Amino acid sequence: MNNKFSKSLSAQEEAKKRIPGMCQLLSKRPDMFSQGVWPAYYSKASGSKVWDLDGNEYTDMSISGIGACVLGYNDPDVDGAVINAIKNGVAASLNCYEEVELAELFCEIHPWADMVRYARTGGESMAVAVRIARAATGRDKIAFCGYHGWHDWYLAANVGTDNALGEHLIPGLEPAGVPSQLSGTALPFGYNKPEELEKILAENKGEIAAVVMEPIRNIDPEPGFLEKVKQMAHEAGAVLIYDEISAGFRICVGGSHLKLGCEPDIAVFSKAIGNGYPIGVIMGRQSVMEAAQKTFISSTNWTERSGPAAALATVKKFRDNNVHKHLLSMGKTVQEGWTKAAEKHGLKVHSGGIYPLSHFAFEMDEPLALKALFIQLMRDRGFLASNIYYPMFAHTDADVRRYLAATEECFAVIAEAVKNEKVHEMMEGRESGSGFKRIT
Ligand SMILES: Cc1ncc(COP(=O)(O)O)c(C=O)c1O
Repeated sequence: MNNKFSKSLSAQEEAKKRIPGMCQLLSKRPDMFSQGVWPAYYSKASGSKVWDLDGNEYTDMSISGIGACVLGYNDPDVDGAVINAIKNGVAASLNCYEEVELAELFCEIHPWADMVRYARTGGESMAVAVRIARAATGRDKIAFCGYHGWHDWYLAANVGTDNALGEHLIPGLEPAGVPSQLSGTALPFGYNKPEELEKILAENKGEIAAVVMEPIRNIDPEPGFLEKVKQMAHEAGAVLIYDEISAGFRICVGGSHLKLGCEPDIAVFSKAIGNGYPIGVIMGRQSVMEAAQKTFISSTNWTERSGPAAALATVKKFRDNNVHKHLLSMGKTVQEGWTKAAEKHGLKVHSGGIYPLSHFAFEMDEPLALKALFIQLMRDRGFLASNIYYPMFAHTDADVRRYLAATEECFAVIAEAVKNEKVHEMMEGRESGSGFKRIT
């Protein structure tokens, strides 16, 4: 074991014994990076810096709290608002008024929307949106595209099918624990493939409660795609739900749909809007949102105060500072830097994603071993880095310059290792995981 990381690595062994799956989010599992290399636990985080359990300091140029901490860690304005909420009582027998202020703010930023409900995480917020759509239409089936969380309504797509979620989430997901009776209730269609949605709607006439999708993620919508989906959904009597959990507030102030020029019936936000504090917003037109009163959607901890207080401070800071412009510019510089460094050292690398959600992949033999080696080499240069870069407002030009210089160095080392067939010999840990596997 590398002594510099002994506490981090032994903590992971302890965790595996006590926590099935080791942690609560697949994307933070060390096997998604490189088991034996990735520190996995932090003791402190501030701005763009993170310290692991052994006290090693990193500049975090990786998943940025998996896209939750857009402003940066420990943001003084957001933390200040939350500390103030805590000092004045984070929960009581009465409701917190921040809920009303936040609803006003969201409806002001999105003038098509009238009403808001809250949850605390992205997946559960999507489950709320789907329940509202089912209640509003009296229908069961959902047509969807992309990833929308862990709940039964979504994993039902893999019940009785040959890995329908393979292209939308990850391959290899067993829908164990999801009732088999849900088979055929979640029907996937491809992004920019309106003909696939058309087929679903034709084969399930009068049965589709909602069409669920992210307005944008890896690629831009083809001209007319979003409008066509909206028209088809409405002609079929279905509710159009946009999942803005990852894209929201990253390309403009508000949902990405504002920039893309197509308004849904419901839009769902989480992640970015709390800068790490738990909050989920389900926002929509009154005609649909009123259906929340026909069904039972209710939870004690959805009434606590820190989430709405954090969201108010975060969204105001986004608006006051045009944070999305910074994210777009940082992501663009990094994507261009990856391409340049790869070309310089003869590596085949593909980069993509909207700039604030950037990623690259080695298009070479053993891409997951190369990814693991990159993570290790970057760690040794003081960076938390992977094949994903989610920019934060706290990232400075200097951070990006240092990161790209280190990336170029590491790409050179990798090119040499590939040439001399030394990749595995140099690896301290395991290669990165690709699909969903039991952690060992
Ligand atoms: C588009 C989208 N929907 C839903 C989710 C689930 O959100 P959460 O992890 O907060 O449950 C995610 C998380 O990555 C996401 O990117």
